[in-house]
Amino acid sequence: MAATSEAVRQVLCTAGPSISHTGLCSNKSNFLALSKYGLSYRTENVSWCTKIKSSRHQNSRRIFAFHFVDGVHSLHCGSNLSDRFRSLNCKCRQTDSVTDVVNEDLNRRINGVENASVLENEKREVLLNGDLATNGHGVFSSTLPMAGISSAEEEAWDLLRASMVNYCGNPVGTIAANDPSDSNILNYDQVFIRDFIPSGIAFLLKGEYDIVRNFILHTLQLQSWEKTMDCHSPGQGLMPASFKVRTVPLDGDDSATEDILDPDFGEAAIGRVAPVDSGLWWIILLRAYGKSTGDLSVQERIDVQTGIKMILKLCLADGFDMFPTLLVTDGSCMIDRRMGIHGHPLEIQALFYSALLSAREMLTREDASADLITALNNRLVALSFHVREYYWIDMRKLNEIYRYKTEEYSYDAVNKFNIYPDQIPPWLVEWMPNKGGYMIGNLQPAHMDFRFFSLGNLWSIVSSLATADQSHAILDLYEAKWADLVGDMPLKICYPALEGEEWRIITGSDPKNTPWSYHNGGSWPTLLWQLTVASIKMNRPEIAENAVKVAERRIARDKWPEYYDTKRGRFIGKQARLFQTWSIAGYVVAKQLLANPEAAKILVNVEDMELVNAFSCMLSTNPKKKRSRKGLKQSFII
Ligand code: GLC
Repeated sequence: MAATSEAVRQVLCTAGPSISHTGLCSNKSNFLALSKYGLSYRTENVSWCTKIKSSRHQNSRRIFAFHFVDGVHSLHCGSNLSDRFRSLNCKCRQTDSVTDVVNEDLNRRINGVENASVLENEKREVLLNGDLATNGHGVFSSTLPMAGISSAEEEAWDLLRASMVNYCGNPVGTIAANDPSDSNILNYDQVFIRDFIPSGIAFLLKGEYDIVRNFILHTLQLQSWEKTMDCHSPGQGLMPASFKVRTVPLDGDDSATEDILDPDFGEAAIGRVAPVDSGLWWIILLRAYGKSTGDLSVQERIDVQTGIKMILKLCLADGFDMFPTLLVTDGSCMIDRRMGIHGHPLEIQALFYSALLSAREMLTREDASADLITALNNRLVALSFHVREYYWIDMRKLNEIYRYKTEEYSYDAVNKFNIYPDQIPPWLVEWMPNKGGYMIGNLQPAHMDFRFFSLGNLWSIVSSLATADQSHAILDLYEAKWADLVGDMPLKICYPALEGEEWRIITGSDPKNTPWSYHNGGSWPTLLWQLTVASIKMNRPEIAENAVKVAERRIARDKWPEYYDTKRGRFIGKQARLFQTWSIAGYVVAKQLLANPEAAKILVNVEDMELVNAFSCMLSTNPKKKRSRKGLKQSFII
């Protein structure tokens, strides 16, 4: 029993850097408690926490406590338990086995910690003793020389560090915005998963790994947490949109406080939007961490493997869909308000593809996940085929759509989604350059959203969801439409803006998303880093260099706004936060990568030749065969 208790203590303690926690874990009066604020790990006078439930339970009394005293654990259970905790509670009654105390998932996480900690120590030694570039993990030196760093970059680093959020004394993320002039902070004082990605990459490229490791492990703990929205629980595996570290008085002890992690899965977010992108970004960052540090022990931990699988299961679950693209509600990604992107928005598909490829690289091949790997491979092939074929437009394709026949009933219909040519918007007829093309924003039955969305297109390049030709064509479009997409401040989130009646109907008359503002055609400096990765991948870094120069003219002087308004991005956004962390981090990452383009490898997914083969098989099969499951399975053996 002592060993299992020790294992539980390990899982609680290894979420943060091990040095501080080791000391704490040997303290006999440490205990794990579920209080009115959630689950936390405490000591006398100092407190260390592991996990917290969401704030809607703040009115409930402490309901569960789990003490570690000399390896003996005891429980105090009370009222107000959710179903999940009821089962935890029931399992907790017998005290002779740790499996009665924690659920199966937690147990797997514990084992993972035990096994991984040995490996991790070994690898940490390699990292400490050896040059990163030659440590045998295929890692290149990624630390930038400080010489030559511009003053804007120096300022950005100072601001980025100032935005760091600590939990139990260790950095776990960066606050969304640090605007001292803004009294209406809403949830900008939280750590957003998607906003942290450029911060995390900046720290990785600088060789400061702890904050990223802590972020990965703490958000992982939030993943399996109970979450409900008006009595409905979203699927297991969902990652929060954001979390906040709260320091609260310790119950019954005025002299002490405790830190708690308070996640928001969208239950408190404006519009109650589900953050579909969070888990996908988490996987992408996890891979980047492994590639950057050479420390694979984090991704190999059983709790981390479980976390990856939970995200995949949620994404790969069967539904009513006919398409391989992920079906989501409006506002489920960076654009987290109503903007007419419900359905199959490109951004989610590109992140999904990237996360699938990244997960495939990281998943350990034990038997249990064979089905998952098969499902994952099947989805990758179908997804790349679908997006490359049906989302792509250029002059040739546009002309084809212009001449589409409609109402085709058959397996070999050319116009599969019954797109009426009249849908081609007049602006596009003028706007589409002869050289260049892009992936449309969304595809649904009888509906193509022809708007250009930057993040989806750029991440299609980074993830190789777009072919090499398509990737170059997207960059050609940026060059051809520089004034529209870069203008006075990179980068347009989408082009063009919804105006007039369209704005009224599609945004629901959203005063924040007025034409050429915010999500509706606003310009977002954070997108610089994705442009940089994409242009480096295609060996055209000058595109990003030029965009960075445009940003440098005013971004620091303007105090790092969240977004800019107007057609050319000339004004600081109407309601834009200043000192927005991902604007700062996006700029920093762009500079770091341009100084060391090799480092972009930690984010890029290279074209998978097996997928390419499967893709060409699909193209050459006859349409009716494409419907047959048998036909599909035969075409990709991976
Ligand atoms: C806005 C953005 C969202 C971002 C959040 C925090 O809501 O639309 O993408 O994560 O602010 O910066």
